[in-house]
Amino acid sequence: MNITNICCIGAGYVGGPTMAVIAEKCPHIKVTVVDLNEKRIAAWNDKDINNIPIYEPGLNEIVAHARGRNLFFSTDVDKAIDEAQLIFISVNTPTKTYGTGKGMAADLKHIELCARQIAKVAKNDKIIVEKSTLPVRTAEAIKSILDNTGNGVQFQILSNPEFLAEGTAVVDLLNPDRVLIGGETTVEGQKAIDALVEVYANWVPKDRILKTNVWSSELSKLTANAFLAQRVSSINAISELCEKTEANVNEVAKAIGMDSRIGSKFLKASVGFGGSCFQKDILNLVYISKAFGLHEVADYWEQVIIMNDHQKRRFSKNIVQTLYNTVSGKKIAFLGWAFKKDTNDTRESAAIYVADDLINEQASVALYDPKVSYQQALSDLDYLDTRTPAENEKYLMASGDAYEACQNAHAIAILTEWDEFKAYDWQKIYDNMLKPAFVFDGRNLLDADKMRAIGFVYQSIGSR
Ligand code: NAD
Ligand code: UGA
Repeated sequence: MNITNICCIGAGYVGGPTMAVIAEKCPHIKVTVVDLNEKRIAAWNDKDINNIPIYEPGLNEIVAHARGRNLFFSTDVDKAIDEAQLIFISVNTPTKTYGTGKGMAADLKHIELCARQIAKVAKNDKIIVEKSTLPVRTAEAIKSILDNTGNGVQFQILSNPEFLAEGTAVVDLLNPDRVLIGGETTVEGQKAIDALVEVYANWVPKDRILKTNVWSSELSKLTANAFLAQRVSSINAISELCEKTEANVNEVAKAIGMDSRIGSKFLKASVGFGGSCFQKDILNLVYISKAFGLHEVADYWEQVIIMNDHQKRRFSKNIVQTLYNTVSGKKIAFLGWAFKKDTNDTRESAAIYVADDLINEQASVALYDPKVSYQQALSDLDYLDTRTPAENEKYLMASGDAYEACQNAHAIAILTEWDEFKAYDWQKIYDNMLKPAFVFDGRNLLDADKMRAIGFVYQSIGSR
């Protein structure tokens, strides 16, 4: 089948950038991204390209080029489904907050709604592509809904998980390590796989497009995230041991990373990993393992999360201890709130949990992040439900820039590794702080010797 019309349900961090790149690279394909969220779609269509809802380096240019040509954003879900030959489902699949599997299993209600909508609307055969990250064997449920509630048309379900990382989404999409496509092993299944291969082949070399069965594809996505997160928790576990032994975690990471079997990437010790997926996907893996009675497997992966929670908590505990066991009434400047640099996404960011701990100790947190608004940070804290929104507003303070946030502060905590933090006039910041002036660098971003030479009491992760 020659694909000329694609629809994507879900205009979020994955659906938006992924479809923008497909549209850019395939001018002969009409790509329509739909969402129920009217505000989000309006922002994608905003005349001022700087107002699109997702910040990703390089994304504005691509959207500006393809939008209105063959890339469209709309709330008319039914029309887009009806017209498309191939439909990506790229809706959110958060951890369940209710019922069976609460706090662990993936909430598939949005996926099921999409399947029912497609079944209701579709009047001709379609290829349905799971782009969202899903528990292994979800395709079975989607197929059952489509086949039992549809209009008698044929559906092929493919799994095509997305491996982009936020902050580098465009580069990752333009030059992926691999594209993974899982489908049925039947003739029809292989035809559907090939149709999707031809879309990607417009810019991805064919030897980087992997074809598997559906279940391998679904499980590979959860496994990839579990392995990546495991590396971060592993180096973070070693960081604590470094702090006790005068070893330096940066040196240890370099030394082990030069072993080509280990590799040098993803070994940066930090205040803990965040983001919308690592925790959710590992919890999902743990839940699935438990459901199959594989308790040792479940415990093994759960430890990655336990270690990450510990890393966040010990960062805030250390701030309190170092500031003479009390931060009550003290101003602590937070540089960074996003879960990593080059994104405006704050989901599960370590900063939220560190701020929550410090506010429990009655600290005043003065926030500056180049891409995250004060309102967003406030709503992240409110979501934890630790205290009333009014109390959060009292303890979390907005700052126009980093210098203002650090003015008269007792301490600075660096939560995100934004490049601009490295270029600041740290002497000026020091001069305007209370003394002793403490810096807790949760990203090992700054030069320890230079900071100490200025006069800061500087602490980073994994070295003393
Ligand atoms: P997101 O929350 O940014 O976007 C999801 C969008 O889907 C929202 O805008 C929501 O309004 C919309 N939606 C939900 N139900 C809908 C429905 N029935 N009809 C129309 N629209 C609907 O989520 P995201 O970060 O883009 O993640 C989407 C999926 O991709 C998740 O499964 C996630 O695990 C996976 N993933 C995310 C990343 C990432 O870096 N964020 C990377 C790889 C995979
Ligand atoms: C991650 C994966 O890298 C993507 O491949 C995957 O597609 C995506 O999850 C997903 O499924 O959502 P993302 O969460 O956007 O991407 O960002 P990462 O670069 O993986 O960073 C995750 C967290 O780990 C961040 O808080 C980051 O600061 C932290 N991290 C990462 C470290 O602390 N140390 C490292 O060495 C690497």
